[in-house]
Amino acid sequence: MKNTVKLICPVCKLPLKRDGKSYICEKKHSFDVARQGYLNLLLVQNKHSLNPGDTADMLNARRRFLDSGKYLPICKSVSEALKKYSCAPEPVVIDVGCGEGYYTSLIKKNCCGVYAGVDISKDGVRMACSRNKEILWLVATAAALPIETGSADAVIAMFSLMLPDEYARVLRHGGCVIEVTVGNDHLRELKEIIYDEVFVQDKHPSPCTEIFEEIECSEHKYKITLDNEELKALLMMTPHFWRIHKERREKLEATESLELTVHYWLRAAVKR
Ligand SMILES: C[S@@+](CC[C@H](N)C(=O)[O-])C[C@H]1O[C@@H](n2cnc3c(N)ncnc32)[C@H](O)[C@@H]1O
Repeated sequence: MKNTVKLICPVCKLPLKRDGKSYICEKKHSFDVARQGYLNLLLVQNKHSLNPGDTADMLNARRRFLDSGKYLPICKSVSEALKKYSCAPEPVVIDVGCGEGYYTSLIKKNCCGVYAGVDISKDGVRMACSRNKEILWLVATAAALPIETGSADAVIAMFSLMLPDEYARVLRHGGCVIEVTVGNDHLRELKEIIYDEVFVQDKHPSPCTEIFEEIECSEHKYKITLDNEELKALLMMTPHFWRIHKERREKLEATESLELTVHYWLRAAVKR
């Protein structure tokens, strides 16, 4: 039988089954599939604002930037890790904080399997639907994933939240979590233009909890050259956009091209 992502009701945690254009649990809690194809399983009490997550402007900028291919090497390293560590022939993969779906859809193309992309931003998930119709796109919180306990082979968290207990809950024993986080030098040249002083935080990934056994912690660095449009898109998709002074923004908007460092950590761990 074909593998599927096993959903649970966000209200009562009983299994959700597809019934036409809805998903329904035994207690008759019902959730309609949206016209674009996604399923909204985010309960009002789990929303911290009217429109949680990235804004539409940030998401559009993210899509423009990611489609330039400048972060393709990141996608390749996650795909390789997934092939290496998720031993199932057709793994069930949950991408938590999937945003507008760039990585989820490319990773699915690179590796086989059954995928769900989860994000708290409805705008993000709505955009993600246009990337790949075979992926189950869900509006939900990472803190209470609407996924059956022990049913997933892999969880991916790319520049997203790391919630070890919840990710361990949805993973089967031997399932893996693959996390990508930014390194200290990530976009350093851009920060040097934006800020008077760049504070170096220790961005080394936090140690594994006792639930997981770390199997890879690798550091990756490469250079990219951005043209003016890519630079503006990158700026808009990051939190720096909200902190930048007018003069610095004008300086960046007039910059024709800029070489930047991409620096990230990939950590893979297996559920014990
Ligand atoms: C920096 S973005 C990364 C998006 C995507 N993984 C990428 O790299 O393009 C972080 C994402 O996490 C989502 N997010 C924030 N809090 C969340 C939560 N509690 N549950 C699910 N997603 C969340 C945001 O809406 C946003 O899309």
